Amino acid sequence: MNDIQSVLHPAGADAAIIHQFSWVLFVGGTVIFVAVMALLALGMRRGMQKDTRPVRPMWWIFGGGIVFPTVVLTALLTWSTWRSIDLAPQTSHKALTISVTGKMWWWEVRYRDPGTGREIVSANEIVIPVGESVYLGLTSSDVIHSLWVPSLAGKRDMIPGRVTGLTLKAEKPGTYRGQCAEYCGEQHARMAFHVIALPRAEYDAWLARQAAPALAADTQVLQRGKTAFLEQRCQACHTIRGVTDGDNMQQQIADTSRLGPDLTHVGSRRSIGAGTLDNHRGTLAGWIADPQAIKPGVFMPPSQDLDGETLRALATYLEHLK
Ligand code: CUA
Repeated sequence: MNDIQSVLHPAGADAAIIHQFSWVLFVGGTVIFVAVMALLALGMRRGMQKDTRPVRPMWWIFGGGIVFPTVVLTALLTWSTWRSIDLAPQTSHKALTISVTGKMWWWEVRYRDPGTGREIVSANEIVIPVGESVYLGLTSSDVIHSLWVPSLAGKRDMIPGRVTGLTLKAEKPGTYRGQCAEYCGEQHARMAFHVIALPRAEYDAWLARQAAPALAADTQVLQRGKTAFLEQRCQACHTIRGVTDGDNMQQQIADTSRLGPDLTHVGSRRSIGAGTLDNHRGTLAGWIADPQAIKPGVFMPPSQDLDGETLRALATYLEHLK
C-alpha cells in the first residue's frame, strides 16, 4: 500500500468517508441502471407480444419520473449530509500548520521550525507526523492549482492571492502520492508530490535535519560541484541555506515568488521535477543538462556549456545535500 495514489485505498478518516460515498453512488447507480435496462427489455418484449394487458403510462411517469427520484435523492442528501458531519473541520486550530504554494509546475512547502520560529522551505514533499491533524495553508503564485492526495482527503483549489486550507490526517505511516487536480498548463500532468507520514519522533528528527543549513562540501568533488553551482548562477533561482546566503538577488525575491525549489536538502527528497523522476545523481545530472527535454516548458534553462566532469560533480554535490 506504500506510495499509492488511489481513492480506493483510504488511509485517512476523510478519505474513508469519501470512499464510502463513492461505493454507495457506484453500487446504487449500477442497481438503478440494471433495473432500468431490465424494464426496457421487458417493455420491448411486451411490445412484440399481442394481447397483453396495456401498461398505464401515467403510473410509470409519476412513479418512475417523480416519486422514485425524489425518494432516492432525498435519502442520499440526508445520508450524505449526516455522514459529512464526521469530515474533519477545515481549521488550523489545534493542528500542525504547513504552507503549500502551487507553482507552475511544482509545490513549495514551508514548515515552521518550533525551536526558532523560522521557516524551513522545501519542495514537492509534505512530511507530516502520523495520526495528527495537519492543516495545509494553500495558495498559488501563478495560476489555479488544486492539491489532491486521494488516499488522505478531498481536493482543495489553490488560488492566487487567496489562502485556502485543507486538513489532512494519515492513520498509518507511509508515502501517499498526490497530484495537481486542476489543469494549470503544459506540465499539469507532471505536477505531483508525495505526502510522507512518519511517527512523531522520526518527524521531529527529520524537521531538525531540515532546519540545519546545507551539509558542507568536504571533498574535492563536492567542492567542485558547489563551485559549479555558484558559477552557473543557479542561486538566481535556487536557495541553498548556508551557501547562497547574502546573495542579493535571492534576498530581493519575496517568499511566495521564489522561482525554483529550495535545494538546501534536495538530496533527501525522493523525486525531482515534482514527481517526474526518482532523485539520484544520474537523474539530477540529466535534469541539469537539459530540463526542457524531460519536462518541456519548465522555467529552468539548460546548462549545456557544462563539461561532463563538472556536471557529474554538480549532481554529486546536490545528491550529497541530504
Ligand atoms: Cu498545477 Cu495542474
